[in-house]
Amino acid sequence: MGRLKGLVALLTGAGRGIGRSIAMAFAREGARVVVTDLELEVARQVAGEIRAQGGVAVCFEMDIRDQARVGEVVSGIVKEFGRLDVLVNNAGVVRSSDFVDIDGDLFDWVVGTNIRGTLFTTQRVVKEMMKRGGGRIVNISSILEEVGTPRQVHYAMTKGGIRSLTRCMAVELAPYNILVNAIAPGIIDTRINKRLLADPKRREETMNRIPLRRPGSPDEVAGAAVFLASSEASYITGLTIFVDGGLTAY
Ligand SMILES: NC(=O)c1ccc[n+]([C@@H]2O[C@H](COP(=O)([O-])OP(=O)(O)OC[C@H]3O[C@@H](n4cnc5c(N)ncnc54)[C@H](O)[C@@H]3O)[C@@H](O)[C@H]2O)c1
Repeated sequence: MGRLKGLVALLTGAGRGIGRSIAMAFAREGARVVVTDLELEVARQVAGEIRAQGGVAVCFEMDIRDQARVGEVVSGIVKEFGRLDVLVNNAGVVRSSDFVDIDGDLFDWVVGTNIRGTLFTTQRVVKEMMKRGGGRIVNISSILEEVGTPRQVHYAMTKGGIRSLTRCMAVELAPYNILVNAIAPGIIDTRINKRLLADPKRREETMNRIPLRRPGSPDEVAGAAVFLASSEASYITGLTIFVDGGLTAY
């Protein structure tokens, strides 16, 4: 408790799934949390839950592909709280497709969100962090930055991009005391994996590839995010932490 006390954290895509768990964990650790999502209603619910538990949270509708909106939200945070210490780039989209069927619309949606949206949201926040003498960026990548899998060429390449972005930004922004790291989740029990985990045959096949023999929970990803945002990680930058039950070690 209290590991993030005094910090202001902006989270993207935090209305459900992994982002929601990170928002709740950050609030439990004393951060003031800015819950943003494409869908206002889910962001509002998470901020309400945090406040009901005695935490501090505000919420905004924010599509990370909309640079003007990101700019408004970031300016609003700085005006209200006077600081912005942590950005968690969690918003991301995935839709499986055979390689030969990937079309321009699917490509633009996945790359526009996972890469373009993440890059320009981070750029806007970094300008504030530079003015204030430092900050932390936590990017939510995927094990697919490391391993190959069928029907995910377009998605996996965006997460490979997040790996490069994390390392290059870590090097470029170190002189500004801005630490940039990533988390690569494996198979986590969110709506993204609902169909996979509900199908007994596919579930068993998947679990056989995971040394811990189970999916991860969003809260288990949140633990790594708290660590990377906290003072305990003050000498770590450019790292990806794999939260995957050993899948990539197998
Ligand atoms: N669930 C997994 O197994 C898994 C594994 C590896 C990586 N990830 C990554 O973790 C992150 C979160 O995944 P999740 O499983 O919690 O997904 P989810 O679909 O449950 O939640 C994602 C949230 O992001 C929001 N969102 C989507 N597009 C957005 C946009 N343009 N702007 C703002 N918000 C947007 C959605 O409304 C949703 O609330 C993603 O980046 C995903 O790629 C998930």
